[in-house]
Amino acid sequence: MWEYSETVKEHYKNPKNVGSIENADAIGEAGALACGDALKLYLKIENDIVVDAKFQTFGCGSAVASSSMLTEMIIGKPLEEVKKITNKDIIDRLGGLPPEKTHCSVMGREALEDALKNYYGYEIGEKSTDKIICTCFSVTENTIKEAVEHGAKTVKEVADLTYASSACGRCKDAIQGIIDSIIGKKEVEQKALTPVQFAIKVNKILEENIAPELSKDKGGIELLDIEGKNIYIKLQGTCSSCPNSTATLKGFVEKKLKELVDPEISVISV
Ligand code: FES
Repeated sequence: MWEYSETVKEHYKNPKNVGSIENADAIGEAGALACGDALKLYLKIENDIVVDAKFQTFGCGSAVASSSMLTEMIIGKPLEEVKKITNKDIIDRLGGLPPEKTHCSVMGREALEDALKNYYGYEIGEKSTDKIICTCFSVTENTIKEAVEHGAKTVKEVADLTYASSACGRCKDAIQGIIDSIIGKKEVEQKALTPVQFAIKVNKILEENIAPELSKDKGGIELLDIEGKNIYIKLQGTCSSCPNSTATLKGFVEKKLKELVDPEISVISV
């Protein structure tokens, strides 16, 4: 028996915004009655803000709860925000869904995409080459790469950050492949670095990735010394004038160097 959150139960028992909208500005559909699950979403849009949303669904309790929550999430919101809503956002707002039921939130997201397509007359979102790896949660390859760059080392840790692999699990091998390719590449790079190469790489990242960011606030950075994995820096300009700002910027520099050079790096601001 599946466990449902109180929010899911509440939205199932008392769904919000059920029905249709006459003269809707956009209508989106997802699923298929033949498969037992279908959702129709109606939007009223004024000045690029969703002023009303209603839905009709022929699906299970989770589909009702997901659709109900989706309408609550979009009413009153500008389209720019609405476009960014993901399946994960719907599930988070519901307080979670059993993995077997995630397709219900996917259906909500798909109906929303369809409605926006109907409204704009074209496909929304980057028609990028970013490949979807986890179809259950529409998680792309770049999102998984970002999760790994931010420290996720296992499929479970990627799931904790993105939800990818938390439902049917078909995408687990692909996620593992992405993790292996990034971590393996980093290990090879790190193993190959001599102290001189390490110093050159630190310098390059400071110059190309960090200094330009600091210069936006009229700040700067000077590399003073490198001892093993300890990097001694001096923050310049407005960066050095405020202790709080110095601590924040030092944290920023350390995070970048850990990500791009070596996770064991420690930055000391003097
Ligand atoms: S494809 Fe189903 S959990 Fe990723």
